[in-house]
Amino acid sequence: MLISFFFVAGLLSFFTPVVSAASTTNGASIYNLPLGSNSNYTFALNIPDDSTDLYFHLSGPTSYSWLAVGTGSEMKDSLMIVAYSNADGKNVTVSPRLSSGEQEPEYSSSLAVTLLDGTGIANNTMTVNGRCSNCTTWKMGSRTGSLDLKSSSQPWIYGLGPTGGSARMLRSDSKTASIERHSKYGVFDMDMVHATGGSGGLPTSYTTAQGSSSEGGDKDDSNWPSIIHALCLGGALILLFPCGAILLRVLPKSVRWHWVNQTISTCLAGIGLVIGFYLSTQFTKSQSCSSTHQILGIVILLAIIAQWGMGFWHHRLYKKTQTSSMFGVVHRYFGFVVILLAIINGGIGLRWSYASNGVLIGYSIAVIIVSVVIIGLLGWARFKTNRGAKGFVRQPQELDEFQTSDLSDGYVDRSAGGSHGYDRY
Ligand code: HEM
Ligand code: HEM
Ligand SMILES: *[C@@H]1O[C@H](CO)[C@@H](O)[C@H](O)[C@H]1NC(C)=O
Ligand SMILES: *[C@@H]1O[C@H](CO)[C@@H](O)[C@H](O)[C@H]1NC(C)=O
Ligand SMILES: *[C@@H]1O[C@H](CO)[C@@H](O)[C@H](O)[C@H]1NC(C)=O
Ligand SMILES: *[C@@H]1O[C@H](CO)[C@@H](O)[C@H](O)[C@H]1NC(C)=O
Repeated sequence: MLISFFFVAGLLSFFTPVVSAASTTNGASIYNLPLGSNSNYTFALNIPDDSTDLYFHLSGPTSYSWLAVGTGSEMKDSLMIVAYSNADGKNVTVSPRLSSGEQEPEYSSSLAVTLLDGTGIANNTMTVNGRCSNCTTWKMGSRTGSLDLKSSSQPWIYGLGPTGGSARMLRSDSKTASIERHSKYGVFDMDMVHATGGSGGLPTSYTTAQGSSSEGGDKDDSNWPSIIHALCLGGALILLFPCGAILLRVLPKSVRWHWVNQTISTCLAGIGLVIGFYLSTQFTKSQSCSSTHQILGIVILLAIIAQWGMGFWHHRLYKKTQTSSMFGVVHRYFGFVVILLAIINGGIGLRWSYASNGVLIGYSIAVIIVSVVIIGLLGWARFKTNRGAKGFVRQPQELDEFQTSDLSDGYVDRSAGGSHGYDRY
């Protein structure tokens, strides 16, 4: 009895200080952002006593292409930890980056992050447990940044990559992998004093937030400039330009409507291209303007300007001479080459900006439908004209209505004699 009493008391006196030491030693601040369907974006911190090491935990659902946390209250000059799935989808790639503004942050090898136990992907959750040993001061070109470990309300930012059916998830082993613009971002505060204590170690549970508060400003975001870029260029080059051929040859067979349509489309393409140049400043992959998509895009831009010029010039010459010119012939066939190149470049652009396979299939189907309709209408118009030329004598009145009839070269209307028809502007 007595012996067992002393034994139990001894055990208690042995364990009690250890247990209480463990719960008080490692300070921690934990921030939770609910993301629906019972999952959180979680960031937690511990800073050991007399140390500048940061022990951190970053986790969130794998349905977002990437997860990130950054110092400060805005992207500019922020030190960020970006995490995404590795190539085989079973672990995470952790990429410490520095940001110079509202654009893709750049990987920095001077930031040393050591990965700790628990890092990986499980249960549709990406988790990074790490230690950042050189993260309290940093250098970015001529700028330097630092983290105040004594602040009770140190601002931090979070960002979550694209999500949903239109995004192809990023899977890469490379720390310099290109990431797309966020679908969510915001600012929160962390009590760094609350996070300080112990000899370095992370909490075992993250379900209870502590030492943190939301700063508001949580925003749903999207890469809308990219979408407008795609709609302007796809709409102009792949839909409207081919429709211009229909306006000239099928209905209402009008050079004027052709000209108006192609001019509007050229302007729309111009807007899309200006946005393309802005987009190019946003991503590390595009800043040097040397990718296939950009170069081919610029070639197409020059081709469109040449197309417009040739069409205009051909028409001027035709009004003077009433015969077709080289410009007309080149204009006519070159137009289809430009459209084909634009279709290819749109596909390259979608691949390049991580559009999902669903989006690519949708794009392909749309291109096929437009092509079949346009080629069908043009073929039908040509068939009708050929038949007219071979046998049926056209009534003069018919020629008045349908202002072109000879489709063998350019859009010249030789049989109409140029005395009436499409030179009406
Ligand atoms: C490809 C990568 C990225 C691009 C292109 C990008 C672009 C942008 C743009 C254009 C804005 C302004 C949005 C607006 O005015 O509505 C913005 C804001 C913001 N982004 Fe990013 N971002 C990227 C990555 C990140 C990452 C990794 C984080 C988080 C660590 C982040 C956090 C924020 C926050 C908190 C804001 C609001 C504060 C501010 O304007 O700086 N971003 N971003
Ligand atoms: C015929 C010309 C072009 C077409 C049809 C085209 C089409 C597209 C499409 C469909 C996308 C994917 C957008 C998305 O997934 O939301 C894209 C992305 C992009 N385009 Fe173009 N584009 C053209 C020319 C250009 C040019 C000339 C530049 C710049 C020099 C450019 C820069 C970009 C950039 C930087 C992206 C990537 C955006 C991102 O990653 O989010 N494009 N383009
Ligand atoms: C993930 O990678 C880290 C670092 O390479 C490693 O320590 C960890 O054990 C890996 N986790 C899993 C689940 O494979
Ligand atoms: C996986 O997540 C679900 C809900 O998100 C949770 O109920 C379950 O306990 C988790 N399983 C493991 C092994 O963590
Ligand atoms: C720590 O960061 C500084 C400034 O960014 C850098 O010059 C230095 O090489 C880094 N040290 C280590 C050990 O990575
Ligand atoms: C998410 O965070 C909230 C608030 O801190 C917490 O009540 C909840 O249990 C957390 N859920 C998960 C799955 O961690």
